[in-house]
Amino acid sequence: MPETYPPSADFAAAARLRADDYARRYAESVRDPAAFWGEVAGRLDWFKAPTQIKDVSYALEDFRIRWYADGELNASVNCLDRHLEARGDKTALIWEADDPEVPARHISYRELHAEVCRLANALENLGVVKGDRVTLYLPMIPEAAYAMLACARIGAVHSVVFGGFSPDSIAGRIADCGSKLVITADEGVRGGKTIPLKKNVDEALKRPGTNSVETVLVVRRTGGAVDMQMPRDRWYDAVVGEQPATHAPARMNAEDPLFILYTSGSTGKPKGVLHTTGGYLVYASYTHEQVFDLKEDDVYWCTADVGWVTGHSYLVYGPLANGATSLMFEGVPNYPDVSRFWQVIDKHRVTVFYTAPTAIRALMREGDAPVKSTSRASLRVLGSVGEPINPEAWRWYHEVVGDSRCPIVDTWWQTETGGILIAPLPGATTLKPGSATLPFFGIEPALVDANGQELDGATEGNLVIKDSWPGQMRTVYGDHQRFIDTYFKTYPGRYFTGDGCRRDEDGYYWITGRVDDVINVSGHRIGTAEVESALVAHAKVAEAAVVGFPHDIKGQGIYAYVTLNAGEQPSEELRKELVAWVRKEIGPIASPDHLQWAPGLPKTRSGKIMRRILRKIAENQPDQLGDTSTLADPSVVQSLLDERKVK
Ligand code: WT7
Repeated sequence: MPETYPPSADFAAAARLRADDYARRYAESVRDPAAFWGEVAGRLDWFKAPTQIKDVSYALEDFRIRWYADGELNASVNCLDRHLEARGDKTALIWEADDPEVPARHISYRELHAEVCRLANALENLGVVKGDRVTLYLPMIPEAAYAMLACARIGAVHSVVFGGFSPDSIAGRIADCGSKLVITADEGVRGGKTIPLKKNVDEALKRPGTNSVETVLVVRRTGGAVDMQMPRDRWYDAVVGEQPATHAPARMNAEDPLFILYTSGSTGKPKGVLHTTGGYLVYASYTHEQVFDLKEDDVYWCTADVGWVTGHSYLVYGPLANGATSLMFEGVPNYPDVSRFWQVIDKHRVTVFYTAPTAIRALMREGDAPVKSTSRASLRVLGSVGEPINPEAWRWYHEVVGDSRCPIVDTWWQTETGGILIAPLPGATTLKPGSATLPFFGIEPALVDANGQELDGATEGNLVIKDSWPGQMRTVYGDHQRFIDTYFKTYPGRYFTGDGCRRDEDGYYWITGRVDDVINVSGHRIGTAEVESALVAHAKVAEAAVVGFPHDIKGQGIYAYVTLNAGEQPSEELRKELVAWVRKEIGPIASPDHLQWAPGLPKTRSGKIMRRILRKIAENQPDQLGDTSTLADPSVVQSLLDERKVK
């Protein structure tokens, strides 16, 4: 088996960039970032072109991150209006329904523009003004893209909440940013099942802190019965239908907020990651073009939900800013059967396919036959995102899905980074299975030890980024200090990613996973603290500690240790009840995979839970517990090990 995969001569010949181009462009980009990013900004249409390109200081006493600060533009104009002349009839969005029998929809740039303008007018009529926050709780339907772009058009700040989150999670996100309006659907459809989205919004709006919401727009997706509370609730089609199909876009400053997206951190409640207009759009569109080697006639499919940053940057904003055809899929990989992804690729002649390792591993388990029964001849580039991809899954993706013909771009990035920071360029970079390879233009990664000492050469350490890039988040909504404390205090002068990483002798980066208390479950971030606080909110639970453990399909699973209140007895029933409780409190993605009773938790004498020990027990590596002598009560460890054996 080859260790490395250089670009094929055929691919490289037709690619935007080849090996020596990468080295040259990279050197330019880090030598003079302002010159480099000033030039790249020319890819967008600006009402006023920026003259101030970069204004950044990571110094704590003088902290600022500003890109293109005097530029003015509108993101929806860049995704729509500017394509109308040359690409008006080109398909902007292909919508593939959950049910393969439902006809797919092809929405042209002209139609998309009209839909977005109608909704923009409707939002303005409902009193939404520049700077207002709008929460979107929608399934994977075209209206999700309309809604994001309509907000961008009027200068409202969207906050998309993933359709799998619970009423409590929606409520928390609404309360945190004080949304004025919510857009949802009657029900979502996934894998043949319906999800009661409107009902969840109704529940959420009963929670304290959500009375900023004046209007709920409801898209009819299934026609299922919902409770419309007048005058708060309005049908989307009724409100939007009568609106004109043109709209004068708001003139936005480059540093005006474009959206908020909540993500889990290692402590406390989810953070509202805030991205701004100019830098984000430059970065999302440029990385989308370069990393996927975009061609005018590509049919590009990113399987991520719009509820995650991948859906923002690489389903909606990046591809549409580039005038690409972007496929939006409502369903799941295994419905009606495990060939569905490959059938959709054949049906729409998808050329670029971007998905997550967890999906690849789950489908790999089904064997080669469901893949090989399809052609996939249209494919030319494959992508991976969300978590490290194990070399075995990489090779299967390459050989079976891509017929050994398509380069794989393993893209490392984060909600915070707005776009891809480390990834191959498919015509330029020799691939190594399992490595995200080399930094994108303008990105200066470094590995540091626990003291912040920068490490040279082939080594392993914590991954930091030494300078800013235009797509970087600007603040945690409503808590700028938390932004600075979380990302810039650990290693002063550098952005700390929270990831561990190895660098090999060729300078390739191999992400090893989170080094903080964040678990990556199927490419989704879950904060251990969030699951713990959900558990202790249950009347029978005294204390809980949550860690990640290796999981064959999900990458990491959730392992919860629970101490019950005095007098409560552990039982199989209670175990199930607690798992269901977390599901209800946060959402299905946060369900613990294992829940172990813990008569006591391993704590230091100062009362700090030693998670290192809990991780080793969860990983079933009792011989690697390390030093337990600083524990207040070392016997706790033995009882946890005994309990694990009984299971
Ligand atoms: C965390 C960020 C980036 C969009 C989806 C997830 C992990 C992400 C990779 C990759 C190894 C990866 C990191 C990162 N991660 N991509 N290609 N290889 N790890 O966004 O929810 O903000 O999660 O996902 O641990 O810190 P997110």
